[in-house]
Amino acid sequence: MSEYDAFAAVYDEWTGPIGEDDVDFYVSLAAEAEGPVVELAVGNGRVAVPIAVRTGRRVIGIDVSPAMLAGASERARAAGVELDLRLGDMRELALEERTDLVICPFRSLLHVHGHDERLRVFRGVFDTLSPGGRFAWNAFVFDPEIAAELDGQWREQGGVRHRVDYDHDERRIDLSLEGGPTIPLWWADPAEWDRLVEESGLEVEARYGWFDRSPFDESSREAVYMARKPA
Ligand SMILES: C[S@@+](CC[C@H](N)C(=O)[O-])C[C@H]1O[C@@H](n2cnc3c(N)ncnc32)[C@H](O)[C@@H]1O
Repeated sequence: MSEYDAFAAVYDEWTGPIGEDDVDFYVSLAAEAEGPVVELAVGNGRVAVPIAVRTGRRVIGIDVSPAMLAGASERARAAGVELDLRLGDMRELALEERTDLVICPFRSLLHVHGHDERLRVFRGVFDTLSPGGRFAWNAFVFDPEIAAELDGQWREQGGVRHRVDYDHDERRIDLSLEGGPTIPLWWADPAEWDRLVEESGLEVEARYGWFDRSPFDESSREAVYMARKPA
């Protein structure tokens, strides 16, 4: 069981505009890679299925939520592709396969709390990657103005009523659905991502401010990262 099980039914409506921009980015990375692609926190296959359809790559998708994985299976069947879906926690990544590309789209690394837990993910990714292989992920950048506007407000996104509550001491957002679960996300700043990359043995290849590969700068509200395992 995971908090996301109750979220699965409304997930596609809720993802909103980000879903239109990130898929092409991750598909383009998959097209450049060899061998299977690993998606951590694959969810309902929103990104994995277009990768499989458009590149023909095998996608190994890992997630803790059985309901999200069931959604991925259904989406793959409807698209006429197969995904290699595995119930599991990204903090305990231990794959037999080696790959050129591991991805973790849509801020999913923010569900992992604290540096030590995140470092477990990054070390697992390091072990999974072939030399020269890439790890790509994205996460929002904390913005106090956005926080002040959103904090404690019920809003609609894609017809889904939800609210976010900020805990500044814990650097945490609690995302709640009306009558549904509350899902915590712990934000991180770019310096923290850089530290995780370095401590896991990876190297930063690029930091973008959006999926169009525009450079990351102080005005960026999203951090889109690519790291590489040294060849
Ligand atoms: C925002 S969704 C992203 C799904 C998909 N990657 C996408 O881009 O649409 C976050 C997903 O992370 C999964 N998740 C949360 N913590 C996890 C963990 N420790 N290991 C694996 N999956 C996890 C949730 O079950 C959920 O499906």
